[in-house]
Amino acid sequence: MKASFIRKELGKLPKLTVQDIVFMKGEKRKITMLTAYNYPFAKILDEAEIDIILVGDTLGMVEQGNPTTLPVTLEESISSTKAVARGAKTHSLVVGDLPFLTFGVSVEQTVENAGRLAKEGNAEAIKLEGGRERASEITAIIEIGLPVMAHIGLTPQSIYKFGGFKVQGTTEIAAKRLIEDAMIVEKAGAFSLVLEAIPWQLGKYITESLAIPTIGIGAGPYCDGQVLVTYDMLGFFEEFKPKFVKRYANLKATVQEAVIQYREEVRKSKFPTIDEFSYHGPASEQKFFEKLATSKKPT
Ligand code: KIV
Repeated sequence: MKASFIRKELGKLPKLTVQDIVFMKGEKRKITMLTAYNYPFAKILDEAEIDIILVGDTLGMVEQGNPTTLPVTLEESISSTKAVARGAKTHSLVVGDLPFLTFGVSVEQTVENAGRLAKEGNAEAIKLEGGRERASEITAIIEIGLPVMAHIGLTPQSIYKFGGFKVQGTTEIAAKRLIEDAMIVEKAGAFSLVLEAIPWQLGKYITESLAIPTIGIGAGPYCDGQVLVTYDMLGFFEEFKPKFVKRYANLKATVQEAVIQYREEVRKSKFPTIDEFSYHGPASEQKFFEKLATSKKPT
């Protein structure tokens, strides 16, 4: 058992580290990752002992209602990561995601933006999309002391290049290119790799070829870990469900039911009741408050 797992059991070092995540691959222990963008969800995932909370730039779609992830800014990402870090106090490693155009312009700018995500957002690791073209940026981020999670396959920041949210690596040439990309980001120093929307056979091959863990989303069951967008797996959206999403709950219906019940109770003056949900005023002032309740104007 790795040191920090032992210390966690002793209650001394509660949170998982990137070393623990890498160690889990060797131990053949599946890694769980989900997304969160705010404090209450981070707290739920952390208390449920999800290993990694990704503050993904899916923020732009599922929280902000944009059709793509491209509009997300570094400031928004920092703000969400900070809230998530406050909620993830006991177990989960918090990974901040670099939004579109906060990397890929120059190595210096990438390093500065990754640094801000850690310094201002309290991210414990940085994720960025891309393969071979990101190698020098991955290494540079690691050189300033931050661990990096890479992401290849269907990288949503490139959907215009792909022509939509489409499965990647579906030809021999494309699959071989992704295999090379995986090797390159591992060599560049990434501690883990997200594989998104690729044939499961390719997910299996890459997973077995790398020493670092792979975390799949639509990449089949053989990846070292799995990630889903939390709002997707909880059933917040009915309009669109990618093939790889399993709905573990139907929270849209549950939330809607509660909201409609509240609306009806307010409309019918059933909520709030005096006894259960109202303040009565202190006992010492009872006479005054009783009089107030029955007169139109306080005297
Ligand atoms: O931004 C995100 O949430 C992601 C996951 C879907 C892997 O990149």
